[in-house]
Amino acid sequence: MSLSENANRIRARKGKAPISALTAYDYATARLLDEAGVDLLLVGDSLGMVVLGFPDTTHVTLDHMIHHTSAVARGTKNALIIGDLPIHTYPDPETAVANAHRLIEAGAEAVKLEGGVRQAEKVAAIVADGISVVGHLGMLPQRVKEEGGYTKKGKTDGETQAILEGAFALQEAGVCAIVLESILPKAARLLTEKLDVPTIGIGCGEGNCDGEIAVITDVIGSFPWFSPPFATQRADVAVEITKAVKAYLDDLSR
Ligand code: KIV
Repeated sequence: MSLSENANRIRARKGKAPISALTAYDYATARLLDEAGVDLLLVGDSLGMVVLGFPDTTHVTLDHMIHHTSAVARGTKNALIIGDLPIHTYPDPETAVANAHRLIEAGAEAVKLEGGVRQAEKVAAIVADGISVVGHLGMLPQRVKEEGGYTKKGKTDGETQAILEGAFALQEAGVCAIVLESILPKAARLLTEKLDVPTIGIGCGEGNCDGEIAVITDVIGSFPWFSPPFATQRADVAVEITKAVKAYLDDLSR
């Protein structure tokens, strides 16, 4: 296997046009986002919350990810599809490689995993097997229980330095991009400046990364029960669904 050309193209966008990225979990949404011209679709393990109704991403399994990745792949022609390796699926390099292949077989072109220095060996093994990898640093949702909640990162020089060390380890291991989540703007900007691979930010402030990613349900307002404070909602799909269903019920009861 050789590394995804689409992923190589995203890597080459560093310092050029901003990279656009959204999560997608199903055929119809993936098709709409792909046809709208989004560069990168992430089948994120956030599907655990916004699709499957779990309290956090720690309940997501590889089978869930395979099921949704294959639906997204059926709806996508151009965007780079990245599949999240869920918690407990990359404990060592061998298992990480085997599970990365399962996401690729389901239709992903690259995989994403969370963490820095301690994941570098696993990233290197996956890349050596011909699969493109995206890193994920800052707030790591798979560690939300240990962290005691969703917290901002890069608050101190020491914390920023540790993230930077992780980022360099991932870059050296061969990632094609790194997602930065909930890192304070100044630290996110520093990481973007220091790295040769593109950074893709969420909750890092505007313009501090080489690209931006958002959870699709936050953007379209289809999951009204929770949305993070940094999200910008651009439509109210939940209200539209409720209106349409009420109209349907009213017609039936006439
Ligand atoms: O699972 C997900 O949606 C993610 C994004 C927050 C980047 O990892």
